[in-house]
Amino acid sequence: MRSIASRMSVMSGEGALSVFARAKELEAQGRSIIHLELGEPDFHPGSSVVESVTKALAEGKDRYCAVAGLPALREEIAHYLQRTRNLDVSAANVVIAPGCKAALFFAMMVLLEPGDEVLYPDPGFPGYPSITLGLGAVPVPFELSSRNHFQPDLTEITAKITRRARMLITNSPGNPTGTVYTDAVQRGLAELAVKHDLWVLSDEIYARIIYGGEYLSMLSYSGMKERTLIIDGFSKSFAMTGWRLGYTVAPPEVAPALALMAINTYTCVAEFTQYAAIDALRDREGTTPRMVAEFARRREQFVHDLNKSPGFRCEPPEGAFYAWVDIRGTGSSAEEVCRILLDDAGVAAIPGAAFGPSGKHFVRFSFASSVENLREAAARIMKVSAAWQRTLVAT
Ligand SMILES: Cc1ncc(COP(=O)(O)O)c(C=O)c1O
Repeated sequence: MRSIASRMSVMSGEGALSVFARAKELEAQGRSIIHLELGEPDFHPGSSVVESVTKALAEGKDRYCAVAGLPALREEIAHYLQRTRNLDVSAANVVIAPGCKAALFFAMMVLLEPGDEVLYPDPGFPGYPSITLGLGAVPVPFELSSRNHFQPDLTEITAKITRRARMLITNSPGNPTGTVYTDAVQRGLAELAVKHDLWVLSDEIYARIIYGGEYLSMLSYSGMKERTLIIDGFSKSFAMTGWRLGYTVAPPEVAPALALMAINTYTCVAEFTQYAAIDALRDREGTTPRMVAEFARRREQFVHDLNKSPGFRCEPPEGAFYAWVDIRGTGSSAEEVCRILLDDAGVAAIPGAAFGPSGKHFVRFSFASSVENLREAAARIMKVSAAWQRTLVAT
């Protein structure tokens, strides 16, 4: 009997993409929808990045190229991490991948054996448990709770580390909560990783999108150099989601294994996009700081407006571009709130359980949308909130 491999039955999709599909259906029927479901900046890369890609194509830079990525791009990433994160990284340790998701998948495939336990944040990026399960490993969630300001709880994590624990995934700033892990928490996580000899997969895709303070990478803590892999890329910080460009910074013995994964799968990342990525990193036009300043403005306004909606409670996120709203005060489930928002108000948002069981009383809104859209969304939410206020009065 022909069948699909059993690993596919344990992997999962993404809530954001299914809400997006439903929202698109409604749009096709003529409804006005404000899309706050996808984690996609509503900006585009600076004009010099677009000029670089055009120039590279005109010069015939569309061939198979270096498996681990263009040496010039890997050098530029090393400089960039020195400049923006104060990290001392060698270009030899950088491997370019077609997006952060691919970088995550390959890093986990290279490091995990079936049965290994992977500690990861809940709520968190849905790929962490899905990829873990797909590789026959065991996801072990640690909670990011509102009681703890969505910071990882070191006591809980310590209690969950067993002899099978092999990897700790961190994500600061985090999707969906926007939490920037404190120095003390990261130091504690680093100590646990050293004590229990864990790999650390530090997903730093939102590192540039923070609203104050200086970014601290997991790689900068004592004992981390030999066990930490940074996953980062161009989708969020450089508004290049569709370019499919990411990278891993790995210890010297891991980088060749990642290159071997490249040989066996994507061969190399499109050469012309890599030339443009060099330009994006240099950011001579200041595109990233301008975009982040705009996100900061929207965050102020949108979080303020959401907190005026009956039953909604939202702490301003410290990073990324998501409002993570506690909806317990509505008396309805997050699924029901999202259904009302989409069907009655034309506002697309994601029920928090899409990011793990600890997200079940929350809804995630992306504020990577124009100020006008966000104002209009808040007004529409206010209007339909009567639906759950009625339920509350009735019960
Ligand atoms: C935490 C996190 N990691 C990884 C990714 C994947 O990024 P990419 O578009 O580079 O594959 C995302 C995208 O939403 C994300 O939020």
